[in-house]
Amino acid sequence: MGKKNFLEALARRPVERVPFWFMRQAGRYLPEYMELRAKAGSFLDMAYNPEFAAEVTMQPIRRFGMDAAIIFSDILVVPHALGQHLEFVQGEGPKLDALRSAEDFSRLSYHKFEETLAPVYAAIGKTREMLSSEGFDETALIGFCGAPWTVACYMVEGGGSKDFLHVKKMAYGDPAGFAQLIDLLVEASAAYLSAQVRAGAEALQIFDSWAGALDSHQFKRWVIAPTREIVKLVRAEHPHVPIIGFPRCAGYNYMAYVQETGVDAVSLDHQVDTKWAVRALQCQVPVQGNLDPVCLLAGGDSLSMAAEQILADLSGGPFVFNLGHGIHKDTPVEHVEQLVKVIRES
Ligand code: CP3
Repeated sequence: MGKKNFLEALARRPVERVPFWFMRQAGRYLPEYMELRAKAGSFLDMAYNPEFAAEVTMQPIRRFGMDAAIIFSDILVVPHALGQHLEFVQGEGPKLDALRSAEDFSRLSYHKFEETLAPVYAAIGKTREMLSSEGFDETALIGFCGAPWTVACYMVEGGGSKDFLHVKKMAYGDPAGFAQLIDLLVEASAAYLSAQVRAGAEALQIFDSWAGALDSHQFKRWVIAPTREIVKLVRAEHPHVPIIGFPRCAGYNYMAYVQETGVDAVSLDHQVDTKWAVRALQCQVPVQGNLDPVCLLAGGDSLSMAAEQILADLSGGPFVFNLGHGIHKDTPVEHVEQLVKVIRES
């Protein structure tokens, strides 16, 4: 079997060409996704059906031959598995029953945890089989979870938010109470990631999409410390599985994140200056990133030029090409084709 470029880059070994994958590579910009989504019903029906989830995971790989597939699921399956009500309202995003006190947190439990998440593990096993039977022997499979801080944002706000007023108020005002939720999420997320590895995931990514909402002190407490703990717990069981951290919009705090969490690699959002990243981050760990998904949506010469600039800046060290955040749903498929061509020809 050939070497997997993506895993080689994460292990800091030389690669024949720059490996790539894109956050949200399986999703609404693909007509075949929309077709299956219409058959499956809701987003959660699709994510919890191993056949559908594996099929959707494969869709972008068949079109574009990425070096990594990411299992089709969502970061919010963890609160759902802990008993919090979750639904995805079409056009509005996730809706949860907001938890606003330590008493609310105490109602969460592991009662249905394994049962709820079992389809995700089944989808991982199924995807590994499909990758191999369809000849994608060099494509690695990524498992993932949300970081405790970001998942807590959704759990406390009850959905998306612009200012994170409730969750930040709790983090500042009742740190001991809030720590109960974060500690539970550390334990649950580590268990979830380890189970994904046992099911066949070859690398892991921790998405901290709202890491940029915190000041430096709070960032250490609610982003760095819980992530460090998850890395420690997962590594104790699976010492050779690389863990990529994505503290989106962490700015200057990216440095402390890399130094203190112990992640094997870091994913950069599109605000990170790539030349700074070479000096401050890539000298310590492999980096992944960081094309603006809106540049991909726009297409044209500016897309090729932006991708070439990122490749020029980051290809000198261990590097995986990716976007700075997920593919936008209105992105034309031809723009993704154009980007893949630029990366492959670099
Ligand atoms: O990257 C992949 O292709 C794998 C699948 C994946 C999804 N969500 C599928 C999804 C991954 C890795 C995620 C992570 C995720 N989910 C994050 C972290 C990354 C980020 O985007 O910041 C967050 C914050 C969520 C929570 C979430 N899920 C939101 C806010 C939404 C609604 C917004 C939206 O884009 O519609 C979702 C729904 C969701 N998760 C969709 C997909 C493909 C769209 C569902 C649909 O088909 O309508």
